[in-house]
Amino acid sequence: MAVNIHIVEEPRWGATAADLLAGCLKAKPDALVSFPTGHTPLPFYAELAGRAAADAAPFRRLRAVMLDDYLGATALPSNFYRWLRRELFDAIGLDDSRLLRIPSEPDGIEQACSDFERALAAQGGCDLQFLGLGGNGHIGFNDPGADAATRTRVVELAPETARANAEYWTNGYVPTRAVTQGIGTILAAKRICLLVRGPAKADMLRRALHGPIGAEVPASFLQQAPELTVIADLAAAARL
Ligand code: PGA
Repeated sequence: MAVNIHIVEEPRWGATAADLLAGCLKAKPDALVSFPTGHTPLPFYAELAGRAAADAAPFRRLRAVMLDDYLGATALPSNFYRWLRRELFDAIGLDDSRLLRIPSEPDGIEQACSDFERALAAQGGCDLQFLGLGGNGHIGFNDPGADAATRTRVVELAPETARANAEYWTNGYVPTRAVTQGIGTILAAKRICLLVRGPAKADMLRRALHGPIGAEVPASFLQQAPELTVIADLAAAARL
């Protein structure tokens, strides 16, 4: 594995991630890029929004794919598709024709997950997969227990994951199931960039990069990625 670790503080943190994407788009203007939700990537998305406002040209052919979403929350304002549209896609002018959405309707979901995997492969596979790191070591919604062979599927959320996401929800709605790219799906990306910020992630980042590889810490499978870039702030990198 080739690992490239950048330890940088904001505003360099977001700019470093944006530079990585810019380099990818320079080499391949219609690159297929996977974007996560969460607090972590917000400075990165704000940086992309600023760059796109100054010059939209580099983003015109970018294609995007979703990493995960809640199951059956399609109509709710807090589903991940709407979140990404609000925080990123509208700002960089990415319309739905260039987005591969992960399925989130319960009806026919198994078939839809297989169709998603096929569509991802048919589009040439993911060129650059950005990921956040869960406090319990999850990547996407692959909570502890998910192994390297998993593909896009419905998962039950670990209680801590549901809790960590509770602020996204209103009206007392608590999601229990989600759809996520599997670890095998994620590892098939040509390049992976793990985005990490804050002291709460420091121990998990160390375990992900230097601990034993296994389903107990799903992010540890990133040690098997062909090309991994980590962009961490000082607090997140404190235990490396
Ligand atoms: P966070 O979530 O960025 O909101 O901490 C990361 C994740 O759970 O993947």
